[in-house]
Amino acid sequence: MTEFQQKIDQVRSVLADAVHDYAPVIFANSLGAEDMVLTDLIDKYQPEIEMFSLDTGRLPQETYDLMQEVRAHYSVPLQIFFPEAQRVEEYAAQNGVNGFYESVELRKRCCHIRKVEPLRRALSGKRAWITGMRREQAPTRDVLQVSEFDADNGLQKFNPLLDWSNADVWKYLKQFEVPYNKLHDRFFPSIGCAPCSRAITPGENIRSGRWWWEDTQNKECGLHVNKITPIKQV
Ligand code: ADX
Ligand code: SF4
Repeated sequence: MTEFQQKIDQVRSVLADAVHDYAPVIFANSLGAEDMVLTDLIDKYQPEIEMFSLDTGRLPQETYDLMQEVRAHYSVPLQIFFPEAQRVEEYAAQNGVNGFYESVELRKRCCHIRKVEPLRRALSGKRAWITGMRREQAPTRDVLQVSEFDADNGLQKFNPLLDWSNADVWKYLKQFEVPYNKLHDRFFPSIGCAPCSRAITPGENIRSGRWWWEDTQNKECGLHVNKITPIKQV
């Protein structure tokens, strides 16, 4: 068996353990490259795992196109969670629709309304959730475990691709002809909301296109907070 096949089998076994030990389990699907690997594996081997996307209302057109493609291509239904309309309206009235460019605090508040609160609803009643996070994506992700208790949300959390490289992800997508977000072909390795994601240039960190106007390395939006450690200044 090849080393790559072993990696795939390890992910299958993490997914199977999650279902065996923690059903009901749900997968948080951002439709990024890693999440398309998991979509394909879940659909093929663990279709009892549910799947959802947080539609912030500000996603790029390419992400919406991929959502439609996933519906057509896979049998596991993609549930969509929207932010609460009243909270978005209040934010827009107080800060303007693009108020997130003005300060980190306003940016985090927007992420809270459009992502964190809907995430809480998506996870309600579940015993575990699955993400596509990888260790090498950011220093904040180095401390993660493949299986860990998510104290903020009160359930188990699985990161089955934690030790996959970017090359592993793309090898899988190509080998199994998995659909992917067209923005990846235009130098967007990490895709979030349209106004907060941009293309990167060679040599830049893969998450440097996210909230690019902020100069902090601690670029997380609040979906994954419990393990965030302060970045040491050298
Ligand atoms: S983020 O916190 O900065 O937005 P990132 O885009 O790297 O995170 O995604 C990390 C993981 O968070 C994804 O693999 C996915 O499991 C989850 N996630 C992020 N955005 C969404 C979304 N819009 N819908 C569902 N899950 C998401
Ligand atoms: Fe708002 Fe940008 Fe966060 Fe999306 S990524 S929720 S638009 S601040």
